[in-house]
Amino acid sequence: MKIAVLTGGGDCPGLNAAIRAVVRRGESYSYKIIGVREGWRGFVDQNFIPFDREKITGILPLGGTILGTSRTNPYKDSKTMEKFKTGFTASGCDVVIAIGGEDTLGVASKLSQDGYKVVGIPKTIDNDLEETDFTIGFQTAVAIAAEAIDRIHTTAESHNRVMVVEVMGRHVGWLATYAGLGAGADVILIPERPFHLDDVCGIIRKRTKNGRRFSIVVVAEGAKMVRKEGEETFLASSRKDEFGHVQLGGIGAVLAKEIEAKTGYESRVTVLGHVQRGGTPVVADRILASRFGVFAVDCIQKKNFGVMTALKGNQIVAVPLETIVGRLKTVDSELFSIAEVFFG
Ligand code: F6P
Repeated sequence: MKIAVLTGGGDCPGLNAAIRAVVRRGESYSYKIIGVREGWRGFVDQNFIPFDREKITGILPLGGTILGTSRTNPYKDSKTMEKFKTGFTASGCDVVIAIGGEDTLGVASKLSQDGYKVVGIPKTIDNDLEETDFTIGFQTAVAIAAEAIDRIHTTAESHNRVMVVEVMGRHVGWLATYAGLGAGADVILIPERPFHLDDVCGIIRKRTKNGRRFSIVVVAEGAKMVRKEGEETFLASSRKDEFGHVQLGGIGAVLAKEIEAKTGYESRVTVLGHVQRGGTPVVADRILASRFGVFAVDCIQKKNFGVMTALKGNQIVAVPLETIVGRLKTVDSELFSIAEVFFG
């Protein structure tokens, strides 16, 4: 058995821990493992690297991905697909383990329907994949964002300022909700709940009346502000990637400016950006990645293909890849209502 492993989409902490787990478990079955560089592009470009124990030594706590990543979509056009097929044959692999988010695993699902043997492992700091309680990278991003908000808290208090913290979260607000709840945000704004500026300002004014002269507003980059003309989304660039995604960003700056204009309270913005995806994974992500990696190889050993590893409660299970495609796991409303208790 020869397994190819790849990481696709945005990177996140914990990818290397998953690669290491795949190689170590694969070796225990005497499987051959190759790495595919830069996501699906590695098949298109025939960019492979043979893996053994030596190559993955010391990578457990390492951020990023030793394989590199990309947002290449082999289904983009027929020419790319032809190259992909040629590359796949050239790799000599029997099965692919794709570590990715909605786009990478969407490709994995299509490939599975087209007859390829594929197993998926879910990763993304957005935690927006259905059928799994958590994805690799999420807990690390939460820890980074919460630590940043803690730090912003002390300077907000010293200066009596409104501090707007923009966190990642393209379609959903898991990261904003967890980090905001964990670090004591006064307002959390998420894509699932379009907001009115007046409501945000109302909460901040009420805090001031209650003697609190600073406020922390955590906003997900994909949050939508309700204007007279409709809901506004904020883009850093309208250029689309191969999966049709635009680059989000800018809502924090607009919000800080408009809060200041409306309330008269001095406001500042901090955009956490890619800091949230960098550096060493927290232990929870290392363990999740290790469990997913081992389980993915066990699926292959049991000839259980076309599945994604998933965490349900404290169990790792296999779910059909097609069940996660085209769906988004939005923030649990019960959890959000707990966060709301601490607003204001
Ligand atoms: O999907 C993960 C994510 O970090 C999103 O939260 C964010 O919108 C996007 O990736 C940013 O992607 P890039 O690094 O390509 O700008």
